[in-house]
Amino acid sequence: MREVRASAPGKVNLTLRVGPPTPDGYHPLVTVFEALSLRETVTVRTSKTPGVRVETIAYLPDGRVDEATTAAMADLDPGSHLAVRAARILQRLAAAGPWASTAAGVSIRVDKRVPVAGGMAGGSADAAAALVACNQLWDLGLGADQLQAIGRSLGADVPACLVGGIALGTGRGDRMRVLADGEGEAGNTSAHHWVMLLAHEGLSTPEVFREFDRIDAARAPGLAEPTPEETRALRSGPEELSQRLVNDLQAPALRLRPELARTMEAARRAGALAVTLSGSGPTVAALARDAEHAQDLARVLEAEDTVARAVCASGPARGAVVEETEVN
Ligand code: C5P
Repeated sequence: MREVRASAPGKVNLTLRVGPPTPDGYHPLVTVFEALSLRETVTVRTSKTPGVRVETIAYLPDGRVDEATTAAMADLDPGSHLAVRAARILQRLAAAGPWASTAAGVSIRVDKRVPVAGGMAGGSADAAAALVACNQLWDLGLGADQLQAIGRSLGADVPACLVGGIALGTGRGDRMRVLADGEGEAGNTSAHHWVMLLAHEGLSTPEVFREFDRIDAARAPGLAEPTPEETRALRSGPEELSQRLVNDLQAPALRLRPELARTMEAARRAGALAVTLSGSGPTVAALARDAEHAQDLARVLEAEDTVARAVCASGPARGAVVEETEVN
């Protein structure tokens, strides 16, 4: 039996600029991701039973099991679980290699801490962690570029979860250039402390993009990559970062969910340095001065009736990484 445990981060978009859709329906993006300390852990284990099985356990910020999300994930068609789809792709590659005899069956356990359907790339983080875990499980030796190419085929945010740190995404947001490493590596980037304000209900990403097309696409500013000065500011401390947050999906998401404006207003009133939508929402990201300020904001904002939960997170965190390998 071989078992590999890997983890991958959720994200917030520091900037998100959207262009009009191309004929395939996707939108060209220029976006800067920041990987967050909220991580998905994916454990893969060889199994004598053929096929891919998955079990997902979701957790609340205090470490207790989130029973409702865990039950909802159990009902999900395994074919639409991104960790399963990632594992199946690598399983096909492994079937041709030295681990062919162990590639027939794999069981996956996902320990989920990134909110579901929140615009924080939880599903993509599952895929990213499953890719690095299975790469190790079957000794495939795939390099970063190959994993990113496979990740890109699974979802536009998967490459960002693979690389972590602060990274520029172009194309569909899936062509990465790292601007700053995650914590524990270069260490020359300021830490950012956030309070992620979860909504009571998820928001569909395609729906937000459709609403963008309906109203905003025609007057969206052109897509320009960040200048060196903007890049420097995005890597700086919270005061400088707070002047640079921008998200073209905020207006369409707020039209679909007007109550998100109340969450944002409450966060500003409570003293957040800046407030932005995370990706396509509905999670609202409030930037704090430091870790203690983030905890204070979370306590105050959890009382808002438009806020289901307030979760503290920091960035930039490292990308997808193998945590442990066990061979019996
Ligand atoms: O790639 P992913 O499956 O994560 O994208 C989800 C949906 O978001 C797509 O089906 C598409 O409607 C929208 N999307 C987009 N342009 C992007 C990324 C995502 O229109 N660059």
